[in-house]
Amino acid sequence: MNDRTATAPAATTAYPYSPGLEGVPAAETALGYVDGAAGRLTYRGYRIGDLVEHGTYPAVANLLWTGDWMPSHHLPTAPVPPAVMTALRSLPRAAKPMDALRTAVSTWGATQVLDWPATPDQARALTAFSPSALAAFARIRRGLEPIEPDPDLDLVPGFLYQLTGERPDAGTARALDAYFIVGAEHGLNASTFTARVITSTRSDLASAVCGAIGAMKGPLHGGAPSEVVEQIHKVGSPERAEQWVRDAVERGERLMGFGHRVYRAYDPRAAALRKVAESMEHKPDWLELAIKVEDVALRVLAEKHPERALKTNVEYYAAAVLQGVGLSPDLFPATFALARHAGWTAHILEQSADNRLIRPDAIYTGPGERDLPA
Ligand code: ACO
Repeated sequence: MNDRTATAPAATTAYPYSPGLEGVPAAETALGYVDGAAGRLTYRGYRIGDLVEHGTYPAVANLLWTGDWMPSHHLPTAPVPPAVMTALRSLPRAAKPMDALRTAVSTWGATQVLDWPATPDQARALTAFSPSALAAFARIRRGLEPIEPDPDLDLVPGFLYQLTGERPDAGTARALDAYFIVGAEHGLNASTFTARVITSTRSDLASAVCGAIGAMKGPLHGGAPSEVVEQIHKVGSPERAEQWVRDAVERGERLMGFGHRVYRAYDPRAAALRKVAESMEHKPDWLELAIKVEDVALRVLAEKHPERALKTNVEYYAAAVLQGVGLSPDLFPATFALARHAGWTAHILEQSADNRLIRPDAIYTGPGERDLPA
């Protein structure tokens, strides 16, 4: 007997199939709210622009973990355990920083007692550890010795200090802190969903964050602010902007830093970061050109796609802020992952507080039941 005689399998689900789970609610959350139509983002109800203006990353992380707004909440970076340092030193110098960060979190998890359910203290400990680990790898690969945390510095200036060996000026620290705040949380994106799925099996917080880093590493999620920088360099000068943008769109290329799956309005994170980038003391020399290219791109995209609002997304000005504070482009994705630790771990806490194993259905499309060939 072969598949010609097989019976078709019965339908396996009562629900309609939505590729990519688009539009399917898969969790309840009181953390981040993304209103794509209006271009609004809130964390526990507070507007992202207000949090950037009045908060710090540790205060925002604490808000996500506990629900309490404590603007003076202090969180320094934490030391890297010897086992993690050994693991980081054993990596090839050419390893991707995202791979190094994932390895560091995995090794850190093996050095900790991480009982289930996860606790705010676990979330705090991992969020404080990861910047030190990334900074350590960034130095080791350049043949430099890692730097111990300075407990007097808050998390973001502490990260910059451990990266460069110099305490950053207030403006630089503030700019990167703003980037960390806007990157902290964004609803049920792919990496956050991954973290919740892993947590739902009652696995531990470090395992869930390792999985989240793996999900964020993919270019469809981690985004590519470094490609924005390349794009601006390719444009070269304001006089070339109009022609360059039109040619690129005619060739069917995607303009980096524009368009979003959820936002149909200007991404509020891009608006907040544009303000920060413009007020930076050490802004990249291409920022003015980027502003000109943005104007042109918005106009050309509106002409080309009148049916779909394609606006500036967070990556556009993230590139300016990250480069302005002196980070090398290959550190951009892992720095985004550091910022998202607050959101990932807050979702892990939320999932463990009201857990149900996440186990969706698949629609079976293979052959019906049949005999093995003789
Ligand atoms: N430049 C030019 N055209 C675009 C762009 C863009 N940036 N974005 C979408 N379009 C066009 C598409 O070509 C498509 O046109 P078509 O119907 O003629 O084929 C139409 O707009 C609809 O595009 P979709 O692919 O349906 O848009 P989707 O919502 O799936 O994609 C995405 C969102 C991936 C962000 C897309 O806009 C894109 O590739 N942008 C550029 C890369 C980028 O900036 N990524 C960072 C995103 S933010 C983040 O990840 C944190």
